[in-house]
Amino acid sequence: CLWVRNLKLKRRLPGPFAWPVVGNALQLGQMPHIAFTRLAEKYGSVYQIRLGCSDVVVLNGDRAIRQALIQHSTEFAGRPNFVSFQFVSDGKSMTFTNYSKQWRMHRKIAQTTIRAFSSANSQTKKAFEQQIVAEATELVETLLELSAERQYFNPAHELTVAAANVICALCFGKRYGHDDVEFRTLLQRVDQFGQTVGAGSLVDVMPWLQSFPNPVRSVFKNFKCLNEEFFAFIKNKVEEHRESFDPAVTRDMSDAILGVISRADGDAELSESYTEATVSDLIGAGLDTVSTALHWIVLLLAKHPEIQTRLQQLVDRVVGRDRLPSLEDRAHLAYVDAFIYETMRFTSFVPVTIPHSTTSDVTVSGLHIPKDTVVFINQWSVNHDPLMWKEPQIFDPSRFLDENGSLDKDLTNNVMIFSAGKRRCIGDQIAKVEIFLFFSILLHQCSFEKCPNQDFSLNCSYGLTLKPLDYKITARLRGELLNSQ
Ligand code: HEM
Repeated sequence: CLWVRNLKLKRRLPGPFAWPVVGNALQLGQMPHIAFTRLAEKYGSVYQIRLGCSDVVVLNGDRAIRQALIQHSTEFAGRPNFVSFQFVSDGKSMTFTNYSKQWRMHRKIAQTTIRAFSSANSQTKKAFEQQIVAEATELVETLLELSAERQYFNPAHELTVAAANVICALCFGKRYGHDDVEFRTLLQRVDQFGQTVGAGSLVDVMPWLQSFPNPVRSVFKNFKCLNEEFFAFIKNKVEEHRESFDPAVTRDMSDAILGVISRADGDAELSESYTEATVSDLIGAGLDTVSTALHWIVLLLAKHPEIQTRLQQLVDRVVGRDRLPSLEDRAHLAYVDAFIYETMRFTSFVPVTIPHSTTSDVTVSGLHIPKDTVVFINQWSVNHDPLMWKEPQIFDPSRFLDENGSLDKDLTNNVMIFSAGKRRCIGDQIAKVEIFLFFSILLHQCSFEKCPNQDFSLNCSYGLTLKPLDYKITARLRGELLNSQ
């Protein structure tokens, strides 16, 4: 009968016993995505934990996550009302705003702008490609200089600057060299952003941690300062654009956003101040993620010299030694793309998405989740799901090649790093182009070797992105140094 059905639907979600005050916070450890996956083995792919004062539903595994994000896309499209989210982009961020009509409009503007500057026509596509190639060749020179100076070094900062320059060039029509002090200082602290907004960060679920000195409070204090400084940097650049704005000429993404938002202003849905927030969303999302992908690629190349040699032989055969690789070569470089997909799958360097929340009551895998519940989506568990992947713990790019050596699109579609559904990443296409070009140019121009006395055990720190820790490499030039001309 209906009553029994309702009771069944509304049964409490499974999950571990929650301690008073902290709930399950102490069980998450250094790597919450691994703890979430272990809990799923015991409680099933959909379960509930308690973090401080918040009940959180954790979704794991390919089936439950796709069912939630695709079949119930609107119900899972919300963002929680976390304190930290209100400090991003002066509280006007699209990424950290709950689902609403205004959010939909904001996202559409950001999406159209990205498309216009990356793939809408062959001219903008080519200009975008040239920017990346120029940045990649400068990166090669910097890495070779550092190798000559210090021999073994950690390339993290140089990779961050390179990725940041590409997105800044798109947004402001201007890059900031590796030695620009203001820019370098700003980038040195981007890690602190991910530590606070990553799923499992405690400040949002235990607001009382802000009332006495402790490590969480100081991370949060840094987070507030970082957001203010970052937003001030963006505001200043957008203001310069506003002053010289000419509706007849769109110089870059900032101009495009200024144009669309000023035209939409009559609607009073998105006031002009949302321009800065949109630019800040794109730059923030586009630098930390792409640079982290590049960190892992360099690290895994150095860790697997036999795979590096196979990749280089392929690139040399397809491209030759007289020019740099380009996007047109991509169709013939399936193993390069296979390496990128395997890096995304194996490291799952965005292990859990930005926290979601439910916009209405919903049922997943027969379990009832009420409106306004915080939801964590464990992407790592999709990429390591034993039902989907053979030996998921092994790094093997050739798992993505079919018997003809082509990229197996059904398998690449199973990798989850850009999330899915209504909150899916809107920069996935430009990210893939950037990563492919940086990677193929680095491979063509350099060989990477690990520091001999390091174990390269792939240690990393947890946040919105997983960052490799404690490793050093050296880069050697392969043949003649080519530039982007
Ligand atoms: C959101 C991954 C690059 C723009 C996201 C999310 C993930 C992600 C996991 C959260 C989705 C969710 O909460 O369910 C990545 C990865 C990247 C990358 C792995 C690189 C390898 C970029 C780039 C841009 C971008 C280059 C823009 C230039 C955004 C925006 C959102 C987002 C604006 C927020 C979407 C929303 O809340 O509606 N991304 N991203 N991302 N990404 Fe990316």
